[in-house]
Amino acid sequence: MTVTDSSAGNGPAPAPEEVGAMYDRFGDLLAMVLGGSALHVGMFVPHGDRHRPTTLLGLADLAQDRQTEFLADVLADGLPPDARLLDIGCGTGGPAIHLARRTGGRVTGITVSREQLARCGERLSATTGLADRVDFAYGNVMRLGYPDDSFDAAWSIDCFPHLSDRPAGLREARRVLRPGGRLLMTEFTRRGTAAPAETEAFTQLWTSPPPTTFATLSGEIEESGFRVERMQNMTANVALCGELMHVLYKEQRDAIEQRFGKEATAHTDPLIEPFRTFCQHHVDYHLLLLSKPES
Ligand SMILES: C[S@@+](CC[C@H](N)C(=O)[O-])C[C@H]1O[C@@H](n2cnc3c(N)ncnc32)[C@H](O)[C@@H]1O
Repeated sequence: MTVTDSSAGNGPAPAPEEVGAMYDRFGDLLAMVLGGSALHVGMFVPHGDRHRPTTLLGLADLAQDRQTEFLADVLADGLPPDARLLDIGCGTGGPAIHLARRTGGRVTGITVSREQLARCGERLSATTGLADRVDFAYGNVMRLGYPDDSFDAAWSIDCFPHLSDRPAGLREARRVLRPGGRLLMTEFTRRGTAAPAETEAFTQLWTSPPPTTFATLSGEIEESGFRVERMQNMTANVALCGELMHVLYKEQRDAIEQRFGKEATAHTDPLIEPFRTFCQHHVDYHLLLLSKPES
């Protein structure tokens, strides 16, 4: 959905500043095709039985909310009262606010996008009763500015896929957690062999390096010193999310062109179909609940 030159499949992994610049410029475009309540893969499966959405964007929002709620339930389990929580890659703040409500803890959200930071502030101002328990800051997970053992738990929803150095992100997340603290992360991994055009569509639209294999991810987690407490395969949601983004992009293409310019649609048009097939056939998606050993 975005115009970025340096994150092609074979190019260098994007720097945090480039990722931030993409969200600064195209965060609203992503909300038009992914839903606005959060910026992560939605939970379409299982679909639950709440209200029925009447628009595709309503479906996207509902799926996002369900995913946020599900992940918050997973992280909240066993947390101490007044837990100190870190939201790594907090987007526009919706999930951090939900996490604070769900757990009663204090949440700090970090992002590399200044524009998102402003949106987080607006969202928090529009929410009653959380101003003293939620705050947002500019921060890069690969170089965190917090002392060791600062947090009881952290989550990182769809942020690790952007990192140029995932082991550094894992090391830093582990460092700032207290012993016994947990990190809930979601991550994309590569399945099978994609056509170069498919991989490039994914890396360009998402401003990310190409996804690694699951074996590489597992090796990096083991080396980081985290212990895996729980793993859940949520791949079906990525395929459906890719389909929905594809349909919403087509449906809203004119509005997107009007708002973001011809450059944005000229860039996205050839990428949207290989992006869809990459999500369909070559992306696995997992929830990983990791813990920092007590000693
Ligand atoms: C796909 S969005 C997910 C946002 C949010 N977690 C949600 O679920 O709505 C990815 C987020 O990761 C952030 N991000 C990317 N690279 C980062 C880095 N190196 N350090 C911290 N945040 C980063 C982006 O700024 C963005 O907020």
